[in-house]
Amino acid sequence: MSRKDGTEDGRAPRARGAEARTWPAPHPSGARPPELDARALPRHVAVVMDGNGRWANQRGLPRVEGHRAGERALVDVVAGAVEAGVEWLSLYAFSTENWKRSPAEVRFLMGFSRQTIREDRDLFDSWGVRIVWSGRRPRLWRSVAKELVVAERQTQHNAGLGLNLCVNYGSRLEIADAVKQVALDVAAGRLDPARVTERTVAARFGALDAGPVAGLARPPRPHIPDVDLFVRTSGEQRLSNFLLWQSAYAELCFVPELWPDVDRRVLWRTLEEFAGRGRRFGGATDTPVAGGAPGREAG
Ligand code: FPP
Repeated sequence: MSRKDGTEDGRAPRARGAEARTWPAPHPSGARPPELDARALPRHVAVVMDGNGRWANQRGLPRVEGHRAGERALVDVVAGAVEAGVEWLSLYAFSTENWKRSPAEVRFLMGFSRQTIREDRDLFDSWGVRIVWSGRRPRLWRSVAKELVVAERQTQHNAGLGLNLCVNYGSRLEIADAVKQVALDVAAGRLDPARVTERTVAARFGALDAGPVAGLARPPRPHIPDVDLFVRTSGEQRLSNFLLWQSAYAELCFVPELWPDVDRRVLWRTLEEFAGRGRRFGGATDTPVAGGAPGREAG
């Protein structure tokens, strides 16, 4: 019998390697993921799921109906990432700034997140998805944090897509918390300040929130590579405090669809766009310009 904490009667949770997982059902249109060379595929795609409120209001519905409709898009995009062979997918589900919304919307989003995680984690598990939660404990409903940790524990040994659910997440706070952890390590004599590097900071992301939740120990946080492709839906062109450090060299892709209108085909379109971009990570190459001096590419 499966226990509520996601383990099998207290034994180690089962792992879903490549052989054990089922594949998501194909998209009803019959569309297939783009056939891209593995080197042209982003390892880590981050998505700001924007436009739920506008989608609902355009239909004369309350904003929360947009969030409800957004869950279908979320499941389909996860399916698309699994099919395409993306390594990590980060989804911005609730930001540390979203507490500014009306109490009714915040209450809805908390309850809805709890329900979505509870209802979708077995499906994601069956696809071999490993769920990780990024975000802060303070203020987050304990029941939501608990569902996230149950999902982390249940899927921790899966070898497929890594799904980084960002709930009560804010990038500046994540960086500040990591710096606080660096200071604590220095003060305790565990770390030589002269040896602090970018890696020292990044390795401490999430460290302050690594303790047990509702009596459930959290699995060790895996290494999540930097973001290669940053996608935002709804036509807005902002980063909104999402994975700022990790996106230092990300390619940005802004798509017009409101989140509830998104499905895996939109994700695949962004993968194709990414494959066509030239990335230099701050280096430069000479590109000869016909009849003139070579052009210099920067950035
Ligand atoms: C942004 O639209 C969307 C959100 C703040 C919430 C998105 C959450 C989900 C789809 C489900 C959460 C699921 C899990 C697994 C935790 P908006 O309200 O900002 O739209 P607007 O810009 O049109 O107002």
